[in-house]
Formats: sequence, structure tokens, C-alpha cells
Amino acid sequence: MRAVESRLRAAYAGRRVAITGGASFIGSHLAEVLVHAGARITISDDMSSGRIGHLSAIARQVTVLQGDLREPAFAKAAMADQDVVFHLAASHGGRGYIDTHPVECVSNMQLDHTVFAAAAAAGARKIVFASSACTYPINLQGNESASYLLKEDDANFDEPGKAFADGEYGWAKLMGELQLRAFCKEFGLSGVACRIFTAYGERENESHAVIALIAKAVARLDPFPIWGNGLQTRNFTYVRDTVTGMALAGAGLDGFDVVNVGTDAHHTILELIQEIFRCLNWEPRQIQRQLDKPVGVRSRAADLAKCRDRLNWVPSHSLGDGVARTVTWYLQSSEPPDRKALDHLLMERSGSPVPARV
Ligand SMILES: NC(=O)c1ccc[n+]([C@@H]2O[C@H](COP(=O)([O-])OP(=O)(O)OC[C@H]3O[C@@H](n4cnc5c(N)ncnc54)[C@H](O)[C@@H]3O)[C@@H](O)[C@H]2O)c1
Repeated sequence: MRAVESRLRAAYAGRRVAITGGASFIGSHLAEVLVHAGARITISDDMSSGRIGHLSAIARQVTVLQGDLREPAFAKAAMADQDVVFHLAASHGGRGYIDTHPVECVSNMQLDHTVFAAAAAAGARKIVFASSACTYPINLQGNESASYLLKEDDANFDEPGKAFADGEYGWAKLMGELQLRAFCKEFGLSGVACRIFTAYGERENESHAVIALIAKAVARLDPFPIWGNGLQTRNFTYVRDTVTGMALAGAGLDGFDVVNVGTDAHHTILELIQEIFRCLNWEPRQIQRQLDKPVGVRSRAADLAKCRDRLNWVPSHSLGDGVARTVTWYLQSSEPPDRKALDHLLMERSGSPVPARV
């Protein structure tokens, strides 16, 4: 752990670092790690799903600019004099949101372009892009690929048949990567796309599966509703691992490059809820499988060979450990929304109207 901290300090101490979408769930954890490494951070966020309260632990050490990064003048101000840019701002939510908001998801292509253009014009040396596992071809994530681990080369722009992303959100992220590569080619800057896999942890909201399931369990819903049959798998990745991987990728990779930031463990939704029930020392009598709800691909987990070789690091938090930390935080910081509110939040972006404390 100490070795990682000293690598990050060597890479970021004294550097000017911009984080777009830095008031988000992932962005606020990334900002904490980079502040700890000695970076001088400027956060830009329109607060559409980000929350200023997420930054309360580092409020005095960061500059926050509020505005819409699709506006070139605001993007220019946010990128001024920055050395490294972490670009996380996006219209994004859980499966319920991305399946029902395709137009908002494709608008990310415009947002990415404006941010990359402003960063290049301002002379940024490196852009680290919050890409997604949704860039991977969905034909590699079906029943027949239940134990397959997705490799970075499985989605690329140079071989026929290597682009078949997951919905408008996934295609827009893939086009974000293509745009980043174009800016690298033409302007000579470095661009690193981190393909983030299902992050969860403190400050995430109920629009995402892990927190929604915790909220339902805290509310003691019985029968306990889950989306789909519960056999779909994800590699749930504790957010501290997600942001450590992103920070190391920004420190260690140059030119244009792509790296997975996630775990290689396939966990079913049924396994996830057992961890949640264990933490709460409670179990419902019945699981209600809601087969009409959106569930996404059947299986998804990351191959970590490139992460291990190039970053000399892999995620270290187990599902049990990460879920225990997240449940503890949720119990201390949130009032569970009622069932009707929860059903609504699952299709939206910004989570509980009760502001979560940091
Ligand atoms: N959460 C995950 O598991 C996951 C997985 C893959 C990729 N990602 C990506 O990581 C990033 C962070 O996601 P997150 O889950 O922490 O929360 P999020 O999706 O809510 O974060 C997006 C942030 O961008 C801000 N934003 C949106 N549009 C903006 C605009 N036009 N101008 C300025 N700011 C704007 C929001 O207020 C928010 O703070 C996103 O790019 C997301 O696509 C997340």
C-alpha cells in the first residue's frame, strides 16, 4: 500500500490536475487520492448528479468550478494551465437510467469532444478518460461466455468485428476513446482510457444496483425484489480500487493506451445480496425475481494481465470487505427512500433526495 502511495506522490506532487465530474461518486474519491498525493486539484462539475458535499473532506484543498462542460467557454476555463486532466463528467447512471435515456447517453460524445479540445488547446500533457466496460462487444458477455475475462484488445478500432458496444452509453464511451486517440495523434498529447467495471462504495447513490440493493435490505423489503433472475454476474469493484487504478494509469501509461480497471471475479447478484444480508444480520423469507426489469449483459469481468503488467498493481478489496464498508457508510449517512421513491431512483441519476453525508 505504502509503495502505491509513494508512486502516486512521485507522479502527482505539485502537479496541476483537473478532474471533470469531480463531485461525482468516483470523482470525489479520485480527488481525495490525488490530494493525498500532493496534486493541486481543480474540479469542474455542473452538479447534475455530483454533490458538493462529496468533497467536504478536502474542501479546503481543491478549487471547484461549477458549470456545464459542453459550453466551450466553461471548458476552456476549467482546463486553463492544467498538466493532467481526468475526464469523468458524463451523463450516466445505473442500468435503469442508461437503458431509458439513450439521447442523454449519446450527448456524452459532444461533452467529451469539448473537454478534449479545450484540454489540447490549453496544452495539457495527458488526459485520463473514464471509459467503461460497456465498450466491450456484448457477444462476449452472454451465457456461453459465463467465465470469460474481457481483454483490452477485445474492443478496438483496427480489427473488423471488434466494436459491438453495450447500448448507446457503451457506444458513446467507445467513441470517446476514438476521439481521445484522435487528439493524441494530432496534438501529441498522451491519452489513457480506463475501462471502469461496476464500481461501488461510499457516496454512490440508489440509482446503481449495489446501493439500491442495500437500501432495499435496510428497508427490510420481504419479498426482496431483484432485477432479473439474479444469475447475471458483474465484477463489483470497490471504489478505492477503481480510483487507485485510474491514478496509477495516469501516472504510468503514455501515448494512447487502454486499461481495464476492475476485478476478475464474476459475482452473481444473488451472491451480492447474500453479502448485504450478512452485514445486516437479516434475511428475507422470499426473493422476488423481477424478470421484466433491465438487467444488461449476462456476465462481465475484467482480464487483469495488462493492469498487472503495466501498472504493477491489481485491485485488492474482496466483495465481502467492500460491501461491509459500504453498508456501514449507508447506515450512518442515509435514510432509505420508501419503495415508490426507490423504484423512481432506479431509473434516474441522482439518488436519494436525502443528501448523503461524507
Ligand atoms: N459508476 C460506475 O460503475 C462506472 C462504470 C464505468 C464508467 N463510469 C464513468 O465514471 C464517471 C463517474 O461516474 P460516477 O458513477 O462516479 O457518477 P456520475 O455518473 O454521476 O458522474 C458524472 C459526473 O459528471 C457531472 N456532469 C455530468 N454532465 C456534466 C456536464 N455537462 N458538465 C459538467 N459536469 C457534468 C455530474 O454532475 C457528475 O458529477 C462517468 O464518466 C461514468 O460514465 C462509472
